[in-house]
Amino acid sequence: MNTPRWLLLPLTAALLLGPAVCSSPAQPAAQPTPSSAQPDATPPALHLGTAWYPEQWPESRWDADLSLMEAAHIRFVRVGEFAWSRFEPSEGHYDLDWLDRAIRAAARHHIAVVIGTPSAAPPAWLTAKYPETLRIKEDGRPDEHGNRQQFNWADPKYRELARAMAEQEAKRFGHDPNVIGWQIDNEYSDLSYGPADKAQFDDWLKARYHTLDNLNTRWTTAYWSETYTDWSQVPIETTYGNPGLLISWKRFVSDTWRSYQKNQLDVIRANADARQFITTNMMGFFDGYDHYTVSQDLDLASWDDYVGTGQLNPISNGAAHDLTRGFLRKNFWVMETQPGFVNWSPDNNSLDKGGVRAMAWQDIGHGADAVSYWQWRSDLNGQEEYHGTLVGADGTPVPLYAEVAQLGKEFAKAGPALAGTTIHSDVAILHSYDAFWAINWQRHNKAFDPIANLVAYYGAIRSITHSVDIVSPSVPLSQYKLVVAPALNLLSDQQAQNLIDYVRNGGHLVLTQRSAMKNEDNGLFTERQPGPLVSLLGGRVEQYYALDSTIPISGAWGTSPTKIWAELLSTSNPDTQVLMRYGKANGWLDNQPAAITRKVGKGRITYIGAALEGPTLAAAAKWMVTDADVHPEFGTLPPGVDLYIRKDATHEVWILINFDEAPQTITLPSAFTNVLDGESNSTTHSITLKRFDVVVLQRPTP
Ligand code: GAL
Repeated sequence: MNTPRWLLLPLTAALLLGPAVCSSPAQPAAQPTPSSAQPDATPPALHLGTAWYPEQWPESRWDADLSLMEAAHIRFVRVGEFAWSRFEPSEGHYDLDWLDRAIRAAARHHIAVVIGTPSAAPPAWLTAKYPETLRIKEDGRPDEHGNRQQFNWADPKYRELARAMAEQEAKRFGHDPNVIGWQIDNEYSDLSYGPADKAQFDDWLKARYHTLDNLNTRWTTAYWSETYTDWSQVPIETTYGNPGLLISWKRFVSDTWRSYQKNQLDVIRANADARQFITTNMMGFFDGYDHYTVSQDLDLASWDDYVGTGQLNPISNGAAHDLTRGFLRKNFWVMETQPGFVNWSPDNNSLDKGGVRAMAWQDIGHGADAVSYWQWRSDLNGQEEYHGTLVGADGTPVPLYAEVAQLGKEFAKAGPALAGTTIHSDVAILHSYDAFWAINWQRHNKAFDPIANLVAYYGAIRSITHSVDIVSPSVPLSQYKLVVAPALNLLSDQQAQNLIDYVRNGGHLVLTQRSAMKNEDNGLFTERQPGPLVSLLGGRVEQYYALDSTIPISGAWGTSPTKIWAELLSTSNPDTQVLMRYGKANGWLDNQPAAITRKVGKGRITYIGAALEGPTLAAAAKWMVTDADVHPEFGTLPPGVDLYIRKDATHEVWILINFDEAPQTITLPSAFTNVLDGESNSTTHSITLKRFDVVVLQRPTP
């Protein structure tokens, strides 16, 4: 057997920080020193964690693993989320003693615990005895044991058994001082399409539409003789059904995940201390259900942040963070992230050295209060043998361990400065599952990707403001100076009124392509776009065109080619101005308005009908931000450098990361204290960052 790499290397001060001003990625791995580790007694403000599966290892090994974690400043483990067959080896016979011993062992190493409910992986005896708990796949066949997520999220028996399991856990550990929170299930995703699920869908439709006449009218079922005369005739459709049916199924799915979650959440809440949070781990822009619906009962939003193939894209990953922060509009947790590489991507390359640490600081910059690595040690068998870990199958650290240990040290150091701080944004981007589902079912041009479109606006605006919230169009918007709605295709009456009120009260609203076309039933508004906002805009979309070639646009935001989608706009109010026009195009669009705007009192509404990219998108973003009177706290950053600002009433923390290959220098607007700069708190005005360098700075709120 090869000697582990970390044993060959000298114990260095490499885990301490390098240059005086900024901190660099980990130096060669340092030997962990478990016996000499002196963790803080107080709970950390920034939580570094890992997924630990004690049920897979002899108890005699636990202490060694926990010692290695402690040496890396890992302050929590997430346990139990797939351990049902160990918790309940046979029906009604529970064994939680081993978890109690694991929690006690973790406590001895100053490591707190987040407990998972194991409902994502039911035991074989359960699905064998109660086959109705297995989900029915879309092709009509039942799922089977041997993988995970084979359960049926709508099945009453499954819910009864999962609730009983969660209740046992909560009764045993709900007041445990070393348990800090709960994760319900794991990454809700797979659905069931059997007759019993269909019957529940019928009930859901009845509750929403009350009468078939109402449903038939709102779905325009006279089309293609789709008219229903009995609820049971309504099929389940997921891709090419009536748009009213498609969106109803998605809403049923979302409500059913919510009730599935509440079934366990209520029994945990009834038995647990209020200080123990309840969350579930979500998946960024995954759109299998409406996350605003499912989040509302949780204490905390959390998500699993994986890069897969390639290196971190700070813009799209940042957008996914801000999306998650928007579910409950407060700080969130990264419940899983990749220790270097995964096993499920087409190419499972590793993040480059230093990239894992930079990614973790990006998480914190966007409002995460925890970062947790999946997983601690390679499973000796199972479907994920190749996945990245912090400790190998041999039980000794892999090279990445040192980088994570450096991070742990930094989290401990920066925790007090970041405790209680949050993100403040003057700009919100609106995101709606309804709207994006509606577009994805009928893209009309296959290249129109609503998420990519949102991320493009997000990136252009964030590069100027250094902070953007992503929120639902249903939430109060008055705190924002600028609200941008990329492709907000579908609007409820409440959401339309929310936007109108926002503008009338002085806000600047920017609607972009495909916005406000459809009503709550995913049917067309009887007014052209932007439907209920036409009179406020003093203009409308005369016609939309899916483009098969590139056409030019020019005007206030410069000149550039545009492609994929174009909307021919018109103005009907003398106050409505044309900002951009199409050039020579398909004849219909030639010289017609491509972007229009109207000032409404102190507010403004703008509609952008063309796809913007590159310099025109940058100029449009600049125009919006300036017109809305947003004053970013910092000017333009060098390419590849990201700035994140978290603050409370008295001070603010700036995190700067360079993701670019080339070193970049930034001159700061005032003196800051360098939080990670060893023991001495230096002040600095100018900093140079190499690739993946991170600097954490603090100053009193100006
Ligand atoms: C997540 C999942 C984990 C693990 C991980 C591997 O989606 O929640 O249990 O499978 O992927 O990357």
